[in-house]
Amino acid sequence: MLSIDRQSFGQELNAAADRLSPEAVKALSSIKNKSCPGAEFVGWFDWPSLHGFPLAKDIQSWRENLEIDFDLIVVIGIGGSYLGTRAVSDITTHTFSGTLRGKETATGAPMIVFAGHNMSETSLGELLELMAERKPIVNVISKSGTTTEPGVAFRVIRSFIEKHYPNDAAKRIVATTDASKGALRRLASDCGYKTFEVPDNVGGRYSILTAVGLVPLALHGIDIQELLRGADRVFKDLAKPSPSAEGLLALQYAQCRTAAWENGKKIEVLSYPEPKMRNLAEWWKQLFGESDGKDGKGLFPASLECTMDLHSMGQYLQDGARSMMETFLSVDQPRKISSSKIHPSILVPNAQSNLDELQYLEGKPVDMINQTAMKATRMAHSSGGVPCLEIRLPNLCPDSLGALFACFETACAVGGLMLKVNPFNQPGVEAYKLKMFELLGKPSK
Ligand code: PA5
Repeated sequence: MLSIDRQSFGQELNAAADRLSPEAVKALSSIKNKSCPGAEFVGWFDWPSLHGFPLAKDIQSWRENLEIDFDLIVVIGIGGSYLGTRAVSDITTHTFSGTLRGKETATGAPMIVFAGHNMSETSLGELLELMAERKPIVNVISKSGTTTEPGVAFRVIRSFIEKHYPNDAAKRIVATTDASKGALRRLASDCGYKTFEVPDNVGGRYSILTAVGLVPLALHGIDIQELLRGADRVFKDLAKPSPSAEGLLALQYAQCRTAAWENGKKIEVLSYPEPKMRNLAEWWKQLFGESDGKDGKGLFPASLECTMDLHSMGQYLQDGARSMMETFLSVDQPRKISSSKIHPSILVPNAQSNLDELQYLEGKPVDMINQTAMKATRMAHSSGGVPCLEIRLPNLCPDSLGALFACFETACAVGGLMLKVNPFNQPGVEAYKLKMFELLGKPSK
C-alpha cells in the first residue's frame, strides 16, 4: 500500500491543505459523476474495472499467438503515448541492456527502445543500426494519428521494415490509435496492421493503463494484470463516499499542492532515489505540467534525482529562492521490481585500510545508505524552509506502480479542478506546432 507523510510540510500549509478537503471531495465527485469541465475525458477513472482486465486478457492472448520471432520492441510515440510505458519498462530493464550477454530485462523479455519523441536524425539513424542487427516488432502509438514527431519516425521505420522484411512487414507492425479517426487508423487498415484502440474518453497523459501502455508492456513481459490491479484498488477506494487508504492519499496530495500554490509556491520538485525512476518523474512532469499549466497558473513540475542531483541542484534547493515545495518519492524495497525478481543486496565490503574513512559503513547495505541519504535530504531541505511531502511505495512491482499512476492521475485531475482549469486539455501545445508548420511550409487543407 502507498502512503503519504506530511510531517515536514509545515503547520500552516498543512492546516491550509486540510481546509481544502471539502473542495477536493467536491472536485472528485464532479469527476465521478462526469459533470466537471472536460468531463468527456474522465474515462481513465474507472477504466481498469470497466475495460482494463478484459483488454489485458486479449492483449496477452494476441502476444502469445504472435507469428513472428522478435528480440527488439520499438515503441513510437510522444508525450502520453510513450512516457508511462517508458517509466515502467525502465524500472524492469537492465541498465546495461544491449551490452549484457543473456537476459536483458528482469522478465527475460526482449529489449525495448523508444522513438518518435524527438526530431533527432542522429537518434533515428542509431536506432536503424540497432534494428538492422535485431529482429524488431514496432508498436506505433498516436491517439490523433497526426502528430508530426511519431509520424516522421514511423515513415522512416516503416520503410526500413518493408525493405528488410518484404514478406511479412505488416506482421511486424502494430498500431495503437483512435477507433475510427486519423491518418494512422487509415494507414493501418490499408496496410493490414494489427490495431488496438485509444479510447475516446481518455486523454494521452492519462492513458498508461489503456492499450497505449498495456500493449508494449505486455510485449516487454510485464505483468499487466498486476499493474491494473494496483490501479483498480485505488480507483475503487476513491469510488467510496469516504476514501480511506490510497484514495485518501490522492486527495491529500491534491490539497497539499493546491495549498502550496495558493500560498505563493511556484515550483514542485519531485525527488526520487533510483536512476531507474527517471522516466517515472518525466511521466509525472508531463501529467502535471500539461494539466495545470494554464491561464498563468500551476506549480512548475521539476525533478531531482537523489543523490546525483544533490551535487548540482541541491545547493539551490537548500538555499535558493524559497519558491518551491518538494515531494519525496521513497521506496521501502527498491530492489524488488517484480514478484519474482529481487536484486541481491550489496553490502559495503571490508577494506584493508580506512584511508577513505568509510569503515563505519562496513557491512551496511548500499540501499540503507541511500534511504538514509533521502531522509537526511528531507530533513535538511525542510529545515531550509522547503515544505516537504513524502509518498512511500512498498516496492517497484507493477502493483505499486499501477497504484501510483492512479493516485497521481486522480490528484492531478482533482488539483486542476481546484485551480479552476480544465485538467484534460492542452491548448498551449498547439502554438509551437503552428509556427513549425508555417516555417516548414505545410500546405493548408
Ligand atoms: O496528453 C496528451 O494528450 C499529449 O501529451 C499527447 O499524448 C501527445 O501530444 C501525443 O499525442 P498523440 O497520441 O495524438 O500523437
